[in-house]
Amino acid sequence: MEGVRGYFLSFEGGEGTGKSTQVNLLRHRLEELDIASMTTREPGGTEIGRHVREILLHTKDESMRLSPMSEALLFGLDRFEHLQKVIRPALEKGKWVLCDRFADSTLAYQGYVLGGDVRDIEALNALVVGKTQPDLTFVLDIAAEKSLARAHERHEESSYYDDKMIEFHEKIRAAFLAIAKDNPERCIVIDTDAPVEKVAMRIETTCRERLGVEFS
Ligand code: TMP
Repeated sequence: MEGVRGYFLSFEGGEGTGKSTQVNLLRHRLEELDIASMTTREPGGTEIGRHVREILLHTKDESMRLSPMSEALLFGLDRFEHLQKVIRPALEKGKWVLCDRFADSTLAYQGYVLGGDVRDIEALNALVVGKTQPDLTFVLDIAAEKSLARAHERHEESSYYDDKMIEFHEKIRAAFLAIAKDNPERCIVIDTDAPVEKVAMRIETTCRERLGVEFS
């Protein structure tokens, strides 16, 4: 595979929309096709990311929370490291990288919903990501009340965001849909209010149509 760059796919959406399930299903399909791939996530794809995860997701005392722009900078720091140490090296080896959340999450959460300056966050994302934009971004979409119920079933210990009220999750959903609308060449909205196999099929079909990969 020397010289052939892998594809970079990000999976975005609110809590409980099925991102990690779909990341893993696609990874298995690629394995069956002998296509080298790796899965990773943000925050948490690097050592520093695991610390960022701890600070940002488990600080529940409101008086200790950072401002939205400070949060965006911390997620950006994690992303910069993740790109340098994990994502780019894998792509250069020809691997597909399947990433559970990426820069659109910062724009949705810290920008559109938590009130950070959207233009500043777009500029930060551009600086951090550089030329390594995802080839495709799957925006997994389902009504907030359903995704929240799934998230609560799954988590033994809920994060700061999981504990937010339904209105917060509805705003997150709307933010991701707006981002998808603004980036139609990169983002594909996938309705995940369907059996997981059907959702996986739509993702495969999109990879076939957009990237020319055969899943037979
Ligand atoms: P998750 O692993 O369950 O997706 O949790 C990650 C949480 O971090 C989720 O609530 C969204 C949040 N987050 C941000 O607020 N901004 C970001 O840039 C990223 C990557 C995640």
